Amino acid sequence: FHRAMSTLPKVYVTRKVPPDGLDILRKSGQVQFEMWDSDEPVPRVELLKKVKGCDGILCVLTEKIDAQLLEAAGPNLKVVSTMSVGFDHLSLDELKKSVTILACVFSRGIRVGYTPDVLTDCVAELTVALLLATSRRLIEATHEAGEHGELYGYVVMNLQTAQLASWDLGGLVRNGMRLKPFKVKKFIYTDVAPRPELANMIEAEYVSFDELAKQSDFLAVCCALTPETHGICNWNLFSKMKKNAIFINTSRGGVVNQEDLYEALSTGLIAGAGLDVTTPEPLPTHHPLFTLKNCVILPHIASASYTTRNAMSALAANNLLAGLRGEPMPKELKL
Ligand code: DGY
Repeated sequence: FHRAMSTLPKVYVTRKVPPDGLDILRKSGQVQFEMWDSDEPVPRVELLKKVKGCDGILCVLTEKIDAQLLEAAGPNLKVVSTMSVGFDHLSLDELKKSVTILACVFSRGIRVGYTPDVLTDCVAELTVALLLATSRRLIEATHEAGEHGELYGYVVMNLQTAQLASWDLGGLVRNGMRLKPFKVKKFIYTDVAPRPELANMIEAEYVSFDELAKQSDFLAVCCALTPETHGICNWNLFSKMKKNAIFINTSRGGVVNQEDLYEALSTGLIAGAGLDVTTPEPLPTHHPLFTLKNCVILPHIASASYTTRNAMSALAANNLLAGLRGEPMPKELKL
């Protein structure tokens, strides 16, 4: 409990966030805050109770900030600061919507902070780790180690001479810079339009969506989840990919049609998948994807390093405080 009886703006922190962010909130003397002091998500019923009357909310991506929550919070709410770069858990239309209270129309005008940039290196590191673990079948191999010496029949495709592809050019560049020393033959990407300046950093070639599917040996998805990217990794994509292709997702589970991915993996349409993100999270242990040896599933840990999570919490706290002061936030989402 971190709340003192005062007239300071009231803030609810929906998760035990790393110490740097908490120190910033405490030392600011600018807010009174209460925190869900756990590594597990706050139950929805508790969240709806706790946000009542708050001026600010510091949340993480497990909290849906939607009409129900905004109504529960009430008209004092001025700032939502999410400790994440992704914002698909925030209903942006609701945040900027006009509402009628006692026959008067008010714009909610809630400002939103988020945490881009500070986690990108950490996410790229995990993407590369997952790509290597999946393609070299490391998880499977650890289970074989007690049984076999050199596992002669255990051969995989390596990165040398392979083509690495991505939708999100920024993600491709970050992953590509790390993978270049592995002698990757070619980097390809697709996007709404070519972005030669950024692409030139790793000599990445712009191709169509179909070519991306057909040419990739490794396909890493790092794009944001939006209505346009929802379910975009589906049968249409997998059926065009090479049989030896590896699919990696460190963005959001929602970009993948998991039934189609299961079919593609279990019928040998593609060779393997490494997923840091799923729908839902956590993925139930009885989910068919867990039965596949060629699917490596992680519990959304791409940004999970001490330094990165601390930087995210500090940025989220600074966004929140600046928003409550009515000043520009260090990283504000333009609604
Ligand atoms: C983000 O910040 O959106 C990441 O997915 C969280 O780790």
